[in-house]
Amino acid sequence: MLTPAELAALRQEYSQRGLRRSELEPDPIAQFNVWLAEAQARQIIEPNAMTLATVDADGQPWTRTVLLKICDARGFTFFTNYDGAKGRHLAGNARAALTFWWGAIERQVNVTGTVVQTSRAESAAYFHTRPAGSQLGAWASAQSEVVAGRAQLEAQFAAAQEKYGDAEIPLPPQWGGYRLVPQTIEFWQGRRSRLHDRLRYTRQPEGAWKIERLAP
Ligand SMILES: Cc1cc2nc3c(=O)[nH]c(=O)nc-3n(C[C@H](O)[C@H](O)[C@H](O)COP(=O)(O)O)c2cc1C
Repeated sequence: MLTPAELAALRQEYSQRGLRRSELEPDPIAQFNVWLAEAQARQIIEPNAMTLATVDADGQPWTRTVLLKICDARGFTFFTNYDGAKGRHLAGNARAALTFWWGAIERQVNVTGTVVQTSRAESAAYFHTRPAGSQLGAWASAQSEVVAGRAQLEAQFAAAQEKYGDAEIPLPPQWGGYRLVPQTIEFWQGRRSRLHDRLRYTRQPEGAWKIERLAP
């Protein structure tokens, strides 16, 4: 176990590189895709893993990790169970935020925006690319509900396996995608002495992006 002093002393000096305004892509999704490809090239595990923040009906924020599966001009798309906790939060308040942390390249990306559900056709297209076990898991698990024990989950999985056998597994009605349509995207590059680089794109009413440097 770390002592309190050891924990307090944990710190990393960032020194790999800086981020200049002049090197940014004019479009933040293009810039994000450059950074994602670099994270992938550096063999970061699941570089598409992102922390998703949602807010419940009492104003309590919650976070969890989800995987980015589509990133294009429309926004950042992940797939999940609409009936789970995050689904309930997003039904009541469509505003959400995402964070990517790529420690090996000393970078963070923060995104805020509003989510919309993907079309059923888009959800189905992605669902059918998942391994059969993951497809069955989507039928077997009432995400975020309390379960009596692991045996209950395994029995529900076995029941789904029995039901569908080798047939095509249909898209569950409660399963699909959310696309976060970005309002702001901030790129953070760690620098020496905590003088990190932070450049934030903000969507303007007419659709253009304003870029500003923020103090670290
Ligand atoms: C690396 C990683 C990736 C994950 N990807 C997803 C995902 O894409 N979709 C999802 O629903 N849950 C994913 N999870 C599980 C979620 O973190 C979370 O436990 C689950 O979605 C239930 O969240 P909720 O109760 O807040 O709705 C992932 C977890 C980890 C650690």
